[in-house]
This record gives sequence, structure tokens and C-alpha cells, in this order.
Amino acid sequence: MHTIAGTKGEQYASLFPQIEALIHGEKDLIANMANMAAALKEQFKWWWVGFYLVKDQELVLGPFQGPVACTRIQKGRGVCGTAWMQEKTIIVDDVHTFPGHIACSALSQSEIVIPLFRGREVWAVLDVDSEHTAHFDDIDKQWLEKLTQLLQEN
Ligand code: SME
Repeated sequence: MHTIAGTKGEQYASLFPQIEALIHGEKDLIANMANMAAALKEQFKWWWVGFYLVKDQELVLGPFQGPVACTRIQKGRGVCGTAWMQEKTIIVDDVHTFPGHIACSALSQSEIVIPLFRGREVWAVLDVDSEHTAHFDDIDKQWLEKLTQLLQEN
């Protein structure tokens, strides 16, 4: 997988079929999450990108790329636990202003969290952190929601 040039939208558009091909035919979710996190990190050089999985009413750290992170997050806690509770994607331009933000790394400035659904149940979240303020927007939301749907289909 090579790094793609262009606008953010163009990068996602080129990356999408590559990730689709990468996980096509593979049923193992952890393997597919691991490759998706690696492909995204490689392309966008984000500070941290990875998954938390719902296990026994908690979010537990799953496949990720970046520095070590908090292992468990309670429902409603931090950006991840809030996206899980509210069952919607959350974009935070400045994590320091988000009540209850969990600072796994002091360098993280902005964040996007996408919940993954099985039926109507959230079974995992994708969390992306940037060391730049206001790094994520609706383009990221749309493409990351589309990408994570690939995991649901498997
Ligand atoms: N900041 C997240 C916690 C996870 S780490 O950033 C990897 C939160 O507030 O939920």
C-alpha cells in the first residue's frame, strides 16, 4: 500500500478500494481492524488511530496504531464513551474543551470517534486523534463511517 497524494477527499477515495480489497474475503474482525488502522495511519499520519470494542458494558482497547493508550473506557466517559452512549459520530475540535475528555496523550488536540453498529447495537468505536486543533470535519466523518461499514459487512 503506497501513500496517496491529493486533497483529503481524493486520498480517501483512492484509499477506500485499497482497504476494501485488503479486507475482502477475510472474516476475522481483529485482523481487518488491525489492517484498517495501519492503512489509515500510514496514509494520514494521524497521531493515534484505533478501535475500542464493547465487552461486558465497557470499551476495551483493540487494534490500534500510535502510542500506548487507555485500556478501558466506561460508557458515557470521554469522547469514545460519549459516542457509544449517543450512538453517533462525534468530532471534537479542541479536546481540552470537551467535558470528561480522557487524555491518553497530552499531545492530542482534536479527535473524531465513529461508533460501529451491528443492527442497532454499538459493538465498537473507531477513535482518531490528531496533534493539530480542528483537524477533522464532515469529509472525515463521511469516509470513516463508510470505511467502518466494511467491517460490519464481513
Ligand atoms: N481521548 C479518548 C480516549 C482514547 S485515546 O485518545 C486513544 C476519549 O476521550 O475517549
